[in-house]
Amino acid sequence: MSSLIQKVARQARQTFRSTGGGGAGPSAESLGQLRKLVSQVRAEDVGLGASRPRSSGGKGPPVTYMHICETSCFSMGVFLLRPGACIPLHDHPGMHGLLKVLYGKLRINGFDRLEASEPPEALAFSPPLLPYQYNSVRRAALRSVGEFGDNSPPCLLAPHRENLHQISAEDGPAAFLDILAPPYDPADGRDCHYYQLIHPAASPAPASAAAPGETEGPAAASDNCAGGAAQKEIWLLEIPQPEDFWCGGEAYPGPKVSI
Ligand SMILES: [Fe+2]
Repeated sequence: MSSLIQKVARQARQTFRSTGGGGAGPSAESLGQLRKLVSQVRAEDVGLGASRPRSSGGKGPPVTYMHICETSCFSMGVFLLRPGACIPLHDHPGMHGLLKVLYGKLRINGFDRLEASEPPEALAFSPPLLPYQYNSVRRAALRSVGEFGDNSPPCLLAPHRENLHQISAEDGPAAFLDILAPPYDPADGRDCHYYQLIHPAASPAPASAAAPGETEGPAAASDNCAGGAAQKEIWLLEIPQPEDFWCGGEAYPGPKVSI
């Protein structure tokens, strides 16, 4: 009898079979079936039962990744975050994704990429940008801010919805299952870019869209921004991978997956 994670892999292959060649996205029905399966995945299903590999002590990367499987259509693995670790704001160009918390608590800020309605060169930012940096300025909108635990439904991203996110471990270590379709592939235009929020000089910082490393007020932590007033447009600056973030690798201890 197949393990749950094997069933997830098979369904992901089915759901995203068209995404590897740049075709139409997954059907709502197929994505719904995958979402239903992913929502059932617990830490024990990927071998993270009684002995969890990360602790608050010692040195090492703030985040590690356990590779489970990858095809041309999707990749699947587990990210493990140390207490207080943050995966900086980053994108998934042209990709779909599902994220399911396995243990701990994550705060996830999701952003939509927007077309800029005005050229950033017309604005002054605080802190001021150097002239060459204006080529790296992007427009986006904060779509959602939420806390997710192991009983939360999977968090979805798509090419044009919540394609950018920032993920922080709250109140201890955390782990999540991550499915991306198609996988990152710099040779095919799907590299990962990092961003920080920047603010026009005359505007105060948005209360619920903290830049990496910044701290938000407690009222914003559980604020679901999916509706009207939360469509807060912001400016982003593409930056190199932050020095305090890197991702190590770790062996996947769960059931074997073959696809
Ligand atoms: Fe991500």
